[in-house]
Amino acid sequence: MSASGPAAAGPHRPADSAELAAVWDARYGAVDRLWSGRANPVLVAEAAELPSGRALDAGCGEGDDALWLAARGWTVLGVDLSSVAVARATAEAARVGLAPRASFAQRDLSVDPPAVGAFDLVSAQHLHVLPEHRGAIYGGLARAVRPGGTLLMVLHDRRDLAAGVRHPPPFSMLSEDELRAVAEGFASSTVELRARSTVARDGSPATAHDLVLRAMR
Ligand SMILES: C[S@@+](CC[C@H](N)C(=O)[O-])C[C@H]1O[C@@H](n2cnc3c(N)ncnc32)[C@H](O)[C@@H]1O
Repeated sequence: MSASGPAAAGPHRPADSAELAAVWDARYGAVDRLWSGRANPVLVAEAAELPSGRALDAGCGEGDDALWLAARGWTVLGVDLSSVAVARATAEAARVGLAPRASFAQRDLSVDPPAVGAFDLVSAQHLHVLPEHRGAIYGGLARAVRPGGTLLMVLHDRRDLAAGVRHPPPFSMLSEDELRAVAEGFASSTVELRARSTVARDGSPATAHDLVLRAMR
């Protein structure tokens, strides 16, 4: 088979945000709950000691991280491309009594970036995006951090591609250097790889890897 044949085509790549939104809406709509209902462990580890303020949860999904932050005194805006996810997060915030401290909005971050310098914490957990939207989305998140504030980004790492664990499509993954470049101009930043236990596609125990950027503007 030539490199241009079907076997080399790889996972389907949505043509634009509208198609991507439809994909995510279908994923959320197919189940009562897509994610665990718990905050992401890297957020819990990194944000536990931060003084509360105003936070953005970018690509918030069902709102688990935003609700965890709101329960710790943060005022949080969660935004997501999927209106199904946003409706679910909004309902959950009301159910657990965290609205309006945690609020949610449907937003395509590739065309509707957050306000510049508006947040003490910008968190993006596993927000993998189309390659042509990287600059707009990740750049917009970096600009949304106010001086002294924190940018926390967690992405699945490429080494998971061969590990039999769930991962986003390869075209949406970043190298360590590409992730480091998101925080260019910040006062300090670190990028590290963190291993965590997970379950492989075949149900067996496995190790997944998170690429973690923590930066202070
Ligand atoms: C892997 S999920 C992660 C959800 C949540 N952060 C978590 O860790 O449970 C990625 C989320 O990013 C959202 N997303 C993808 N592209 C986006 C965009 N352009 N603007 C806003 N959200 C987007 C998807 O709808 C999806 O809910």
